[in-house]
Amino acid sequence: MRGRSRVKVLSVVGARPQFVKLAPVHRALVAAGHEHVIVHTGQHYDHDMSDVFFQDLGIPEPAQNLAVGSASHGRQTAQMLDGLEETFLRHAPEWVLVYGDTNSTLAAAVAAVKIHQPLAHLEAGLRSFNRRMPEEHNRVLTDHAADLLLAPTEVACRHLEREGLGDRTVLVGDVMTDVCLETRTNVMAAPPVMPQGWPADETDTYVVSTIHRQENTDDPDRLALVISHLAGSRRQVLLLAHPRLRAKARDLGINLEQGAIRVFDPLSYPQLVSAVVRSAGVVTDSGGLQKEAFLLGAPCITLRTETEWVETVELGWNTIDPECRTPIDQELDRHRDRPGVAPYGLGDAAQRTVTALEQGLM
Ligand code: UD1
Repeated sequence: MRGRSRVKVLSVVGARPQFVKLAPVHRALVAAGHEHVIVHTGQHYDHDMSDVFFQDLGIPEPAQNLAVGSASHGRQTAQMLDGLEETFLRHAPEWVLVYGDTNSTLAAAVAAVKIHQPLAHLEAGLRSFNRRMPEEHNRVLTDHAADLLLAPTEVACRHLEREGLGDRTVLVGDVMTDVCLETRTNVMAAPPVMPQGWPADETDTYVVSTIHRQENTDDPDRLALVISHLAGSRRQVLLLAHPRLRAKARDLGINLEQGAIRVFDPLSYPQLVSAVVRSAGVVTDSGGLQKEAFLLGAPCITLRTETEWVETVELGWNTIDPECRTPIDQELDRHRDRPGVAPYGLGDAAQRTVTALEQGLM
């Protein structure tokens, strides 16, 4: 594969954060004259969980959408596997490229390696070391299956080396940094239109929050604790409700609109960046949002037992609070020095990803 001039790459995406990562990779592949086929598994299908990202980030319509929708882990993954095998055989790309840690990523990885289809994993080497998370199994299994491991950070490279995968690893940086920094520049120049009811006074008066992980949403006591913690903030907490959160709260009879909380639908990417830049900080269980807060200079509290993005914690911008014990306003108001290092790169990760795919390691 080394030295090929035009490479055919087939990207498999399915969930919201993957559409964000896809945008800069697509642009860099096309700019370098490569062929890029986009396949959507349909894991996320609501307009504001999927279509809006393609529109706002300038990503073309996928060549195919498997439309698998929601189901149990096993059924959802199996339906993707079934569809993707046939897709890979038909397109026969030089690389199947998978992103992150979702069921879509795992399904594409298994489908690819079984038919000897070269596989590259973007965002390789992240570890939470929490084996109760479906995402942890997805990323470990995908890393061990892949031929090329595109790591976002030095810490991720070290994890891969420790697992005997160092010779397949390339440090490319974090493609989410590329898109986040570019979007920040755009929204500072022209703020996007925000949803109806969004607070008009926009400086430091509110907290942005998202909660969607299974470990926070599916247990009634845990979800009640998380919601009452958010409700106790003295600032408004703008809760951008993922469909999983809405569905579970409804099923468990938990009211999300409590105390300080105001519930909104998920935002588009430019709206999210604009919201975080102008916020007092973020309270979340999302992986991507912890890092976006860091990149945008907003402090973050993470309602999980650990994080994959350890640099945000080491540099003082992210506080892990699994028991919901940290007073939100006090923590977000604490003085922090601006980080003097850029652990997630400077915004050129997509370009470096393309170079790694061109050179290959096979
Ligand atoms: C998935 C990923 C997670 C990622 C997240 C981003 C896995 C195991 N998890 O979690 O790593 O951080 O996406 O959002 O792949 N639903 C809708 N409409 C949609 C999508 C989902 O209503 O467009 C609802 C359904 O009730 C579904 C539930 O949300 O059952 C959960 O969706 P699912 O794809 O299982 O996982 P996420 O929680 O979104």
